[in-house]
Amino acid sequence: MASAFFFIAFIFLITLKLSPVNGAPNCGPIVADETDRIQFALNLEFLEAEFFLNGALGHGLDSIEPSYAQGGPPPIGATKANLDPQVRQIFEEFGYQEVGHLRAIITRVGGIPRPLLDLSPQNFAKIFDEAAGFKLNPPFDPYLNTLNYLLATYVIPYVGLVGYVGTIPNLSKKSSLSLVASLLGVEAGQDAVIRTLLYERAEEKVLPYDITVAQFTDYISRLRNSLAMCGIKDEGIIVPLYLGAENRTDSNILSANTDSISYARTPPEILRIVYGTGNEHVPGGFYPHGGGGNIAMSFLKKA
Ligand SMILES: *[C@@H]1O[C@H](CO)[C@@H](O)[C@H](O)[C@H]1NC(C)=O
Ligand SMILES: *[C@@H]1O[C@H](CO)[C@@H](O)[C@H](O)[C@H]1NC(C)=O
Repeated sequence: MASAFFFIAFIFLITLKLSPVNGAPNCGPIVADETDRIQFALNLEFLEAEFFLNGALGHGLDSIEPSYAQGGPPPIGATKANLDPQVRQIFEEFGYQEVGHLRAIITRVGGIPRPLLDLSPQNFAKIFDEAAGFKLNPPFDPYLNTLNYLLATYVIPYVGLVGYVGTIPNLSKKSSLSLVASLLGVEAGQDAVIRTLLYERAEEKVLPYDITVAQFTDYISRLRNSLAMCGIKDEGIIVPLYLGAENRTDSNILSANTDSISYARTPPEILRIVYGTGNEHVPGGFYPHGGGGNIAMSFLKKA
């Protein structure tokens, strides 16, 4: 009798340990200092600055504001993308905007050294393979053409956006709130532009793959949801009706919840996504050595 009880209890415990059910342990708020919360965003701002500037211009932050990197290493594998003139112009502007965001944060709360960033085609290819669920042949190259670059940028500002939304409830100083709300405004604008450009081409096949633009956005959003392990907070540009605005449309140019307000993510959720490991303690993906600042580094120490 007793042994049967212990056996059942044992199975129950194993099940608990093995199933990260609806994010029970890891979706809640974290305790952190206000400055650290804002500096955490620098990780994503560096990533965006380098990917946009390099993609549009063929050179990055070090040729524009080298002091902002605070001695951090240059990114791996970033290169000029083969873009049409209009899209190139858009990302040149977005790249400069990221330089401004870095300055806004650095001058108000102080900076952190730029973490090592992996912007190589191989890293993107790996993300796109994981998103698609099989090895794409040839490997996905974000720098190959306008459409590929747009799909690659779909991967980035949205994560910054939901991170800012998640940060705001935990800020108390007016100066912090106003800074983060103002950064959020522009990140949301960038994400909307990228999603609109992709929506215009939603049904187009991303050659040479037999996968449409809309399907790729869906795959990437699903991958991010599964890495973050906190439910649906990320949606592609075409969705089932139950995820569309008021359940009345399957177009989904902006990703938002049932009330059409933005999803929010915590720093651990964001790290699980951008590391590509599903584990905030295990670096990888865009950040081979992990993120910078006290929040990201405190998780690394506990690896
Ligand atoms: C952060 O904000 C969330 C959402 O409002 C709240 O539940 C949580 O208690 C806050 N955490 C801290 C440490 O202030
Ligand atoms: C849309 O559908 C979802 C899921 O079925 C439901 O939770 C939500 O309340 C619906 N929204 C509206 C506005 O009817």
